[in-house]
Amino acid sequence: MFTRDEASRFVPRGDGDPQNDAFLAWELLYRLEPELYDRLASAERLHPAVVGWLPRDVDRIAEVGAGTGRLTMELIERGRRVVAVEPAQPLRRILRRKLAAAGHAARVPVIGGFFDELPLPGGFADLVVACSAFTPSSAHGGAAGLGEMERVCRPGGCVVIVWPNHLDWLAARGYRYVSFPGPMCVVFDSYHEAVELAEIFFPQAAGEVRRRGRRQVPFEVLGINPPRDLAFKVLAG
Ligand SMILES: C[S@@+](CC[C@H](N)C(=O)[O-])C[C@H]1O[C@@H](n2cnc3c(N)ncnc32)[C@H](O)[C@@H]1O
Repeated sequence: MFTRDEASRFVPRGDGDPQNDAFLAWELLYRLEPELYDRLASAERLHPAVVGWLPRDVDRIAEVGAGTGRLTMELIERGRRVVAVEPAQPLRRILRRKLAAAGHAARVPVIGGFFDELPLPGGFADLVVACSAFTPSSAHGGAAGLGEMERVCRPGGCVVIVWPNHLDWLAARGYRYVSFPGPMCVVFDSYHEAVELAEIFFPQAAGEVRRRGRRQVPFEVLGINPPRDLAFKVLAG
């Protein structure tokens, strides 16, 4: 299932049990059921102000852990060149398909890589960003991964962690925090899609999703922290 590089990060002792390790379960989902994962990620839309906050008209953008492109597709118009780094091959395939359908395959290379070993030169990008991908654990970034994001960012450029967790950890490393208010819903394709995905991913909320009878479900109902925030650092120029 995993390449050697993936296994060394996601199952370092080779004895992972996805029943007890949620991070490992997600990594397996990306590789075994990437289309199912994409249906969920597509419904969990970012707060528009998060995208609006990001720098625009920049030369180069690097996104790490791009997945199936929830943020990537929004970055296309913000940089002359966007590079998407994503370790999971099945997610890279879906992202390339979406980019091709939007006519941007040539302008947005999608490459393999990990936070802690980014295949990009130092000072490459004006904006280096990750969305719902970075954590303080070494498997999903950690100090080495944040160091790599900052290495790839040019002096005066901006490193942004969208939908961050562990705010104190980032604040201790000089990251400032922004959050945007307002009600937010997960927007499924249909009511039936809402019920089906709730039964798989949020079984504790499936009854409430069914009772509401709508394709829009408030994030709180599903027990998810809404994607309304970001942490950022402008590197010294
Ligand atoms: C929850 S998904 C988010 C994907 C996408 N950024 C989005 O917002 O839809 C987490 C992503 O982080 C990627 N990822 C996990 N570990 C990583 C690592 N060590 N380096 C880079 N990306 C990683 C996964 O493959 C997955 O695409």
